[in-house]
Amino acid sequence: MAHSSNVVYLRIVLWSLLSISIVLACRGENPRNSAGSNTIEAKRDYESINRGQQLFQEQCGFCHRANSTAYHAGPGLKGILKKPRLPTSNYPATVENILKQLKNPYKEMPSFQHLTDEELSLLIAYLNTL
Ligand code: HEC
Repeated sequence: MAHSSNVVYLRIVLWSLLSISIVLACRGENPRNSAGSNTIEAKRDYESINRGQQLFQEQCGFCHRANSTAYHAGPGLKGILKKPRLPTSNYPATVENILKQLKNPYKEMPSFQHLTDEELSLLIAYLNTL
């Protein structure tokens, strides 16, 4: 009897360790999704996406291709928010890190600090569709 209750006890301990590590692993995957100053409203409506596309063509299209990942004057941004990592910095591909790139670029890209929160959210609406 003593032996089988030890086995049950061991199983409980192992299951607890397993669930704790699953919880920790999930939390570790999205460390940058917590609310911070670099968050904006996520828009998904057709009009926002269209206006975002226009802004992209005016402000970003000179250096970035939207329909490929080939490097032009900057990396092609196709699938930018669908991949795990940003192309040059290799930071996690989150909205927050893209907003950081626009304010404080990683290397040679000019800063887009002048864009309003509204314009940023339209751009993100469009980048989400690439
Ligand atoms: C004058 C050229 C130029 C323009 C205009 C430009 N970029 Fe960039 N972009 C770059 C370069 C070069 C890089 C490579 C990283 C760096 O130098 O900071 C880059 C990198 C990026 C990255 C990836 C950053 C990373 O961490 O890997 C994103 C996202 C991005 N640009 C978005 C934009 C958006 C959105 C716009 C328009 C608002 C824009 N860029 C306008 C040149 C440009």
